[in-house]
Amino acid sequence: MGTNGVAVAGSTAETNGMALIACGSALPAISVSNQQLSERVDTSDEWIRTRTGIGARRVAGPEESLTLLATQAARAALAHAGWGPEDLDLILLATSSPDDLFGTAPRVQGALGATNAVAFDLTAACSGFLFALITAGQYLRSGTMRRALVIGADQLSRWVDWNDRTTCVLFGDGAAAVAVEACPAGENGLLAFRMRSDGSRHGCLTLAQTAEQQPVLSGVTAQLGGFSPIRMNGQEVYKFAVREVPAVLNELLEATGTAAADLNWLLLHQANQRILDAVADRFAIPQERVLSNLADYGNTSAATIPLMLDEAVKDGRVRPGDLIASSGFGAGLSWGGALLRWAGPRG
Ligand code: UT7
Repeated sequence: MGTNGVAVAGSTAETNGMALIACGSALPAISVSNQQLSERVDTSDEWIRTRTGIGARRVAGPEESLTLLATQAARAALAHAGWGPEDLDLILLATSSPDDLFGTAPRVQGALGATNAVAFDLTAACSGFLFALITAGQYLRSGTMRRALVIGADQLSRWVDWNDRTTCVLFGDGAAAVAVEACPAGENGLLAFRMRSDGSRHGCLTLAQTAEQQPVLSGVTAQLGGFSPIRMNGQEVYKFAVREVPAVLNELLEATGTAAADLNWLLLHQANQRILDAVADRFAIPQERVLSNLADYGNTSAATIPLMLDEAVKDGRVRPGDLIASSGFGAGLSWGGALLRWAGPRG
């Protein structure tokens, strides 16, 4: 790899796999309980826990920018991988809540001092991390790049309507990063993947531009930039998730000849415990192999999957060689899945 995303290598037998090496995460300091929210909107701890499994969520303060959290997560992943920032060829930041609409990834690259890496954002809502991981995989597996950081980070607390009980109880803020590396095909950790979009149903979950107009010249009216808070048809998104996630996971299992019983972990986007339970039931995966941290963090959008992975790697549940079925789903509508094998840091 040359500098700043300039491809120099070609695909070789030694480099057509991608290994998942290490991860790291960062969370805002403040945790907000269901009880606290019930002081603001007409809700209760009982409703939120039974309908979603969520007990608390982190809310980023004004100083805790997306850049800061993503950079902290990235530094932790680099430290666990044993890499320096200059070892990186690529930084992909999956987010729907950037600090800057022109891109937040370059700020992270600058803060890290990852001078050899090209950095850009990728937006696919709650599917963003998985889409970014798969995208990074294409550069690594083709031999174009060697080392990448895939970051999932969101701060939807900045985009919810805090008076809308149907959404403000669901979302939380966080960032997590996974360090991935080109490796021999035999050690490939991205065993299979699927990515899907259905824009005809985009209206089910939106963070859309406002429609305020500004006359700028005679006969010329521009629209004033700005966004409306998140709006979601929860029931529609729920039905979509419990239909499409099992379908995509089933495709992955069939394509790879994998039995659900061979999976060590089910690692789904953390949106609702009932969705996790429904998907696990569909494949007869026992509760103890379903990763969930909804109780502590709620739905952190693009961050949920790497945040959960980092927690499970840190506490020793996910170990080198473990087989993980993962699926992300959400606005777009977008969804996807990947069958992953965790490698861990190389000795
Ligand atoms: O990350 C992106 C992907 N997003 C998702 O996967 C979200 C998928 N959807 C869901 O997780 C669920 O649909 C929700 C958790 C959002 C809602 O659960 P639900 O069981 O589908 O509830 P509902 O929308 O059918 O609402 C049931 C009742 C309604 O009252 P009525 O009309 O029956 O009187 C709501 O107004 O619950 C009411 N409600 C609440 N009550 C107390 C809605 N939000 C709340 C609340 N507290 N926070």
